Amino acid sequence: MSSARSSESPALERFQSPGKGRGLRALRRFAVGELLFSCPAYTCVLTVNERGNHCECCFARKEGLSRCGRCKQAFYCNVECQKQDWPLHKLECSAMCVFGQNWNPSETVRLTARIIAKQKTHPGRTESEKLLSITEFESHLDKLDNEKRELIQNDISALHHFYSKHIEYPDNAALVVLFGQVNCNGFTIEDEELSHLGSAIFPDVALMNHSCCPNVIVTYKGTVAEVRAVQEIEAGDEIFTSYIDLLYPTEDRNDRLRDSYFFTCDCRECITKKKVIVFIRVHMLYLLFRFIARFYSKGIAFFLFGFFTSSSFITI
Ligand SMILES: C[S@@+](CC[C@H](N)C(=O)[O-])C[C@H]1O[C@@H](n2cnc3c(N)ncnc32)[C@H](O)[C@@H]1O
Ligand SMILES: [Zn+2]
Ligand SMILES: [Zn+2]
Ligand SMILES: [Zn+2]
Repeated sequence: MSSARSSESPALERFQSPGKGRGLRALRRFAVGELLFSCPAYTCVLTVNERGNHCECCFARKEGLSRCGRCKQAFYCNVECQKQDWPLHKLECSAMCVFGQNWNPSETVRLTARIIAKQKTHPGRTESEKLLSITEFESHLDKLDNEKRELIQNDISALHHFYSKHIEYPDNAALVVLFGQVNCNGFTIEDEELSHLGSAIFPDVALMNHSCCPNVIVTYKGTVAEVRAVQEIEAGDEIFTSYIDLLYPTEDRNDRLRDSYFFTCDCRECITKKKVIVFIRVHMLYLLFRFIARFYSKGIAFFLFGFFTSSSFITI
């Protein structure tokens, strides 16, 4: 992992985080704003809408990019960027010419095609996989319901349809695992104005678990992810990032985390909000009980109180 002081003893380690699987932990103190580590993309794909604005290889935004002479749809800074991207762009270059307007694989399918190609050309561990290799990614295969499996099968069909040339496909079972891994560990890249630029795989960054009170944020310099402290981090602290927009309310956040990542968050923010909700409900029930007790017999009031409190504890 390329940390800010990579020549010294390691600053971060992989560990088993109780209830969260593997995680990343600090071995020394980090100040707010400090770079913990950076991770080049294992592979990435520029979103179709940004073609012509950004280089397909390094994501640099420039005027006057040079166009791929074959497909005329991919743009590059220079010949170096074009050459570097060719082993992956060739998966799409001729297919885009053949399919024309009908070439429309999803970004997940495009990214997965690049992973399969890269695994063939770079079978060993890459510099993006110092602590977590792509083959170790969590897939949550056992938790995929029929709807999710169907979506993955659609992606597999699209992969076969649009990328039949140049790719040696793994078998269907391995592809289901791979799409499960991409869904759970893939990143979207945004520019400074938060508009979507593309999707990527950053294995070491994917080692970090989620918290709604994160101590780091991930930003991007071209196709390199940078992880910086947004809170003081002490040696021994787990490193947490946020997987989702923190502006969503607690319940919404957890619905999204359960749907995409198969867990419910137990961070301070989520637990405190739950406690506040429990407190408000219990307090309201207490007032309701006193109100009812004024008008009805004790027996009925006790029954109502019991009924409401037990139902509220079920729903919390
Ligand atoms: C990108 S991976 C993070 C690394 C993962 N722990 C591993 O062992 O590969 C995302 C997965 O980590 C787990 N995870 C992340 N944050 C969590 C949290 N706050 N509580 C429980 N599980 C969490 C979930 O299984 C989630 O699908
Ligand atoms: Zn470039
Ligand atoms: Zn091309
Ligand atoms: Zn939370």
